[in-house]
Amino acid sequence: MDKAYKKLIDGNRLFALSKKFDDPEYFKKLSLGQKPDYLWIGCSDSRVPANEVTNTESGEIFVHRNIANVVVHTDFNLMSVLEYAVNVLEVKQIIVCGHYGCGGVRAAMGSGTFGLVDNWLRNIKDVYFKHNAELEAISDLDKRADRLTELNVIEQVRNLAKTMIIQNVWQAGRKIEIHGWVYGLNNGLITELNVLYDEKDDIEAIYRYKIDK
Ligand code: CO
Repeated sequence: MDKAYKKLIDGNRLFALSKKFDDPEYFKKLSLGQKPDYLWIGCSDSRVPANEVTNTESGEIFVHRNIANVVVHTDFNLMSVLEYAVNVLEVKQIIVCGHYGCGGVRAAMGSGTFGLVDNWLRNIKDVYFKHNAELEAISDLDKRADRLTELNVIEQVRNLAKTMIIQNVWQAGRKIEIHGWVYGLNNGLITELNVLYDEKDDIEAIYRYKIDK
C-alpha cells in the first residue's frame, strides 16, 4: 500500500484517540446532530481549512469550498448548501473567505488556459473587468492580485445577497449577516473587509425580489 495513503488512516486513528482522550463523550455528542452558527464559503486551496484557521471544532461551521470561493447563482451545489444552511440549520452568519496568494484569482488575471476551470474563473474575470480602472492602476502584479482577491470576495458577498434564499430570510425578519474576509497564507491572519450585508436595502433595486408574506 502507498505510504502516503496510509498516513491519512493513521492520522485518523490518532485524531479519534486524542479526541476521546480529551472528552470520552466527544463523538457521542457530535453524532446527535449539528447546529452550526456559521456557513463558510471558502477556496478549495489545501492551505485554508475553515476549522483550523478559525480554531473551531467539528460541528461549528457548515462548509462549502470551491476554486476561488465564487458564488454563482446557477451552481446547484452551492445553492443547495446555502438553502440548507439558511433554512434548516438556520445559521446566523455567512462568511465568504478568500485568501491572498489564490491561484484561481491569479489565473483569472492572466490569459493562460487550464481546462474546465477557465469557465469557472470567467466569473472572476468579470469582477476584474468591473474594477478594471482600479486594478490596472496597480502596477505590481502581486498587489493587483491581492486587490482582486478582495474585490472578488466583496462581489461574492453581493452575489449571496442577490439570492432569493437570503432575501426570503431578511423579508421574514430573521437576522442573517454576510461577511467578507481574506486569509493571509503568509501570516495565518484573517482580514475583515469593510463589507457587511444584512438587509435587503444593501443590494441595488434591480436585484431585489418582491416577496409577498
Ligand atoms: Co484559492
